[in-house]
Amino acid sequence: MAGQRWLERLFDLNQLLGTEEAGGSSARILLLELSDILKADQGILYQFQPYSGKNYIERNVNSKFDWELSQQLEPGTGNAAEYVAKYGVSLQLQDEDGIDPTVILPLKQGTEKSCYYRPRGVILLPIMDSSRNTTGVIILMKTGNSSRGNPGFKKLSSVELKWLEKVMVQVVRCQTRTGWQKQLFLTLEGMVKTLIRAIERRNQSFAGHSEKMALYALKIAGAVSRASRGKWEQYNFSPIRRLGIYFAALAHDVGKLAIPDRILQKNRKLSKQKMQALRYLLAYLEETEIIDDMEEIYRVIEETNKLGQIKNNLKRRLEEIAEIEYALPDQEVKRLLSEDDLEQLIVAEGNLNSAEREIVANHPCETYRILKELPWPQELKDIPWIAALHHERLDGTGYPWGLKGDEIPLEARILAVADIYEALTASDRPYRDQISHEKAVEIVEKEAANGKIDGDIVRLFIDSGLWKEESNEDFLLEVMTAAIDGL
Ligand SMILES: [Fe+2]
Ligand SMILES: [Fe+2]
Repeated sequence: MAGQRWLERLFDLNQLLGTEEAGGSSARILLLELSDILKADQGILYQFQPYSGKNYIERNVNSKFDWELSQQLEPGTGNAAEYVAKYGVSLQLQDEDGIDPTVILPLKQGTEKSCYYRPRGVILLPIMDSSRNTTGVIILMKTGNSSRGNPGFKKLSSVELKWLEKVMVQVVRCQTRTGWQKQLFLTLEGMVKTLIRAIERRNQSFAGHSEKMALYALKIAGAVSRASRGKWEQYNFSPIRRLGIYFAALAHDVGKLAIPDRILQKNRKLSKQKMQALRYLLAYLEETEIIDDMEEIYRVIEETNKLGQIKNNLKRRLEEIAEIEYALPDQEVKRLLSEDDLEQLIVAEGNLNSAEREIVANHPCETYRILKELPWPQELKDIPWIAALHHERLDGTGYPWGLKGDEIPLEARILAVADIYEALTASDRPYRDQISHEKAVEIVEKEAANGKIDGDIVRLFIDSGLWKEESNEDFLLEVMTAAIDGL
């Protein structure tokens, strides 16, 4: 070993890992530095990933390495790496004729025989937390040169091992710091999901909308960053920005919490009580011979009372019915259906009248108000604003602010595309049956052609086939991890 020089470098490494800069990459920095300090030919890191539920992930720093490693350090496989992980002890192996790789590490089944690389020296070091649980294993290998009497690494002295232990403690400190950051994101995500689910419990037809839409938005953001041609050349969302888009999308509809139940849960245009009162009235009118066939009239009203658009002939008949006049004893002459009732029944889409629609259209403002209260990290401070813009349209016809073109940031445009596509393709919507992907694409493209939403984002989303992919928790965690590493 290079004596004093190597201890100095370990000392520097210890200092580096003590700074904020190392972040979640501390174990990787350690691997690279140790490989360099000890002049290792190969370096591998198996790292415990507490938030992914996976055990160990290898990172091979040398591309010449020809072993196909198994992703997991399986207990009971009897190799040295697994032993180090289990018992938290360091190991040094040496053999002039080269060490069989299966002694050191788990290889992918069936690939053992095709490995040519045989190290002559191997050092295995555990990375342990303060409770002495192993959080990773570092493996350094050297081919060495037996003809020069240098078969591998020189044996590490007790001082050197002590310093290595100090460095490992710093690695774990860094990992703990990163762990806390990840925990903060997961807590925020949990809070937002709790709010969303509170809305979804009040109206089942929203079930899963926000979570699915958020994954679409996250995938579009990834595709924007990967696309390098045309308009996309200038955009490259960092992992933290992508995470921001995910959060904004996930939370975009939390403002619906402010919509009262009578509107959020409305599944008929006229209430049950109102229909009941109408039935009594019609019976009275038939008895007094003001009308002849109450059942026919009631059937028409009942039919138009359902959700969705009504056919023209039904609309005409309803308008005739509305004009039937009657007077109860000692009361003024009235029409069978008030103007309000008629407006409700012939409403073109959905089941809300104009006053109710206004309340619903205010939900992005409420989204902003609610999200402002959450403790977003500095890098994600604009999430409330991005989320609140998901109903804005490029031609200024959106709501609630009627912003236009460049006034709507790219992130919010991504949300708009993901939101519309998800709402169209979702099953169990009150106004209509689920529609096919092809039909949804047609509608989304029409919206883009009419200057409402960003056609480039639509194309990217459709052409890249992102809509096909199933939601994937691992994918989200990868973005989260990358975002934290970049903080
Ligand atoms: Fe919305
Ligand atoms: Fe939505």
